[in-house]
Amino acid sequence: MKKLLILLPLAALFAFSGIAFAHGHGAEQEPRKAILVVSFGTSMPEARHAIDALVDEARKAFPDTEVRLAYTSNIIRHKIVKEEGLYIPTPMEALAKLQDDGFTHVYVQPTHIIPGEEFDDIARVVTALASIDGKYGFERIALGNPLLTDSDDCADLAAILYRTYQDKLGGDQAVVFMGHGSPHSANAFYSQMQLALEKVSDRFFVGTVEGFPSFDDMARRLEKSGARRVTLVPLMIVAGDHARNDMADAEDPQSWLSMLKEHGYRVDADITGLGENGEVRALFLQHLKALFD
Ligand code: CO
Repeated sequence: MKKLLILLPLAALFAFSGIAFAHGHGAEQEPRKAILVVSFGTSMPEARHAIDALVDEARKAFPDTEVRLAYTSNIIRHKIVKEEGLYIPTPMEALAKLQDDGFTHVYVQPTHIIPGEEFDDIARVVTALASIDGKYGFERIALGNPLLTDSDDCADLAAILYRTYQDKLGGDQAVVFMGHGSPHSANAFYSQMQLALEKVSDRFFVGTVEGFPSFDDMARRLEKSGARRVTLVPLMIVAGDHARNDMADAEDPQSWLSMLKEHGYRVDADITGLGENGEVRALFLQHLKALFD
């Protein structure tokens, strides 16, 4: 009975001071920071190291910060569990786990090229979680930009691609980049990339599998250039299914490689995802760092 009487005023003090009880991870506590890298994913283990390399580099760049990975594609996630027993969470699940593990500041970095549908989906999750106060919320949650969000990004990527492929541009050569493409308005970034690439070389061409410019749009421009030899390169983070099949499959008459050969070009395919390029990963890290400033 006596003990209770002593404790009561103490409890009242905490209840009115608010902070200690209302926010389990309040201002007095050390912030616990985490980065969540969010990728579409790929079921091809040989293509996955591009994403894993970005995760490793984020760990090196932010040594006191937890770095985790999530995939957005359920088809790919389920396939990896089935084939390799490797479980990769969705962004929603990974963020819930970070919250449960006591992280207070979370920085979400997508590995997408354009701010399209996939990016919008991630942004919705981040916005929803940012609206939660109290026990189940984060003190801060922020979303990084995809690879291309403005003219500077396009110019930066064009400069990187020039440094990487300038030896494939001499004489009668050209380089054709195959992007994914989207019905989303952000698909316009592929046209912006074409213009940014034209500033560094008149032998760079962009086409997309599912958007504009199409293969035919690209092929028309390529023909006017007078090039006879073409190097095909995926304008995608990982050289997965689209790069290996839609772009480079020599057995498939519908692949870009076969169709360009049909048009009379000598064609080589460079099956290297943009994520395998250290300079491209540095651009993503730059977008991530901007969230911390
Ligand atoms: Co696709």
